[in-house]
Formats: sequence, C-alpha cells, structure tokens
Amino acid sequence: YLILEKFIQMQVVNINDKLSQIKEYWNPAIAGELNGQHIKLVKFKGTFVWHKHDDEDEMFYVLKGSFNMELRDKKVTLHEHEFFIVPRGVEHRPEAEEEVAVMLFEPAGTINTGNTVNAFTKMELQKI
Ligand code: NI
Repeated sequence: YLILEKFIQMQVVNINDKLSQIKEYWNPAIAGELNGQHIKLVKFKGTFVWHKHDDEDEMFYVLKGSFNMELRDKKVTLHEHEFFIVPRGVEHRPEAEEEVAVMLFEPAGTINTGNTVNAFTKMELQKI
C-alpha cells in the first residue's frame, strides 16, 4: 500500500491540466500535499468575504491573471508570478475584477473562510 501511495504521489503535476478541471469559483481543490501542507488551486472572480485564520499563514501565488488582496489598512495588487503571504490573524479579503487562477499553500485543514462560516465556506475539498 505504501508503494502504491508513493507511486500516486510521484507524478508530474501539470498546472494547466489541473486548472482545466476547476469549473467553480472560490472552490479550492487540493493538487498536492507535503509535510502537512496542502497545495491548492483555486479560481476566483468577484469579491470574497472578510476573514482571518487564527493559526495558519496563507500563501497566494498568482498563476494567471491578477487580483487585489484587501487588508484592513491597505490593498495590494498581485500579478502573474507574484505571491503574497497573509500572516495568521490578519484579516483579508481577495477580490478579482476578472477571473484569476491562484495557488494556495497552507496547512492541511485550513478553512477557506477562516473564522467565518457562510455561503463561501468549503469544508470538503476535492482532490484533483
Ligand atoms: Ni484566507
């Protein structure tokens, strides 16, 4: 079983192939796992909800497009091949005028809406 698990893990991952499987905005999918961290891929468009993660730092790496990360005291714009780390405890709200594809890197079990539960909350993430 361990050998099978390793075989499944040791595959080349093509980001574009994975992104083509994502049809829904704001629904992160798990594309990889290492050391208790998940690599998630997500597409979004529009404005998310204000939230924070009390125990997790969260990395947003832009694969395609651009978006704004609103923080309470400033707003940063992220372009393709730029990343930004939101430290634990810091309130944030992503917003994208046009569709953007983002890679998230954060501890497994991190909830997308952090300390809030609402229509955007995804408890069970698909693996792609
Ligand atoms: Ni977050």
